[in-house]
Amino acid sequence: MLLGVNIDHIATLRNARGGVDPDPIKAAEICEANGATSITTHLREDRRHIKDADVRTLIKVLKTNLNLEMAVTEEMQKIALEIKPHSVCLVPEKRQEVTTEGGLDVQGQLTKIINFIQPLTDAGIIVSLFIDPTKEQVMASSQTGAQFIELHTGHYSLVYGTLEEEDAFEDLKNAAELAQTLGLRVNAGHGLNYHNVGRMHEIEGLYELNIGHSIISKAVFDGLGSAVREMADLIK
Ligand code: PXP
Repeated sequence: MLLGVNIDHIATLRNARGGVDPDPIKAAEICEANGATSITTHLREDRRHIKDADVRTLIKVLKTNLNLEMAVTEEMQKIALEIKPHSVCLVPEKRQEVTTEGGLDVQGQLTKIINFIQPLTDAGIIVSLFIDPTKEQVMASSQTGAQFIELHTGHYSLVYGTLEEEDAFEDLKNAAELAQTLGLRVNAGHGLNYHNVGRMHEIEGLYELNIGHSIISKAVFDGLGSAVREMADLIK
């Protein structure tokens, strides 16, 4: 199973000061040097974390694949066709949300999604649909021309360790099985962390996991001690 690392949170931290540190490009290079097989980033309509210039630099410097998360809008389609990332992952986007809350409603906007995807696949870009693990969304996704789905693991992650875990896990497993039967390849992500990720191995054929928040959170604490020590030594 491959690991795509989402670097949006590095950009959030950078933007808090409006400067250049911490640099998401450097973060991507560190991720690549340590086992990430792709770099995921979500260019949001409001540009709250990753900016256009970041994406344009990433596409030039990455040694692995750029997976661009984006909303189903004309603006994003234009950017993707110009930049040509390895893959795009289509997500629903609400301005007010803190993070992507639910999966894309493919079933409810099938024709729109089909028309949106066509120019992207024609341009050689792999298309993935970020969907909730339901039979309806998987079946609809298989009719769109997308090669991949990414199963939303947010609910599983939320109920992990509770009585609801098993049902949430079964939904993911069944959705992944059905998708593969219908010819789709399957990624998964959202809310995965160092505790709940282990069970992903129980799902046959999962291709790649996209993980951001838990990795960046761990990196902060793994690095905080040495960062303080270095500063303390400097000012001694
Ligand atoms: N996959 C998709 C489609 C997402 O929108 C996100 C969050 O940006 C992730 C994966 C990563 O989620 P997390 O940051 O919770 O690991």
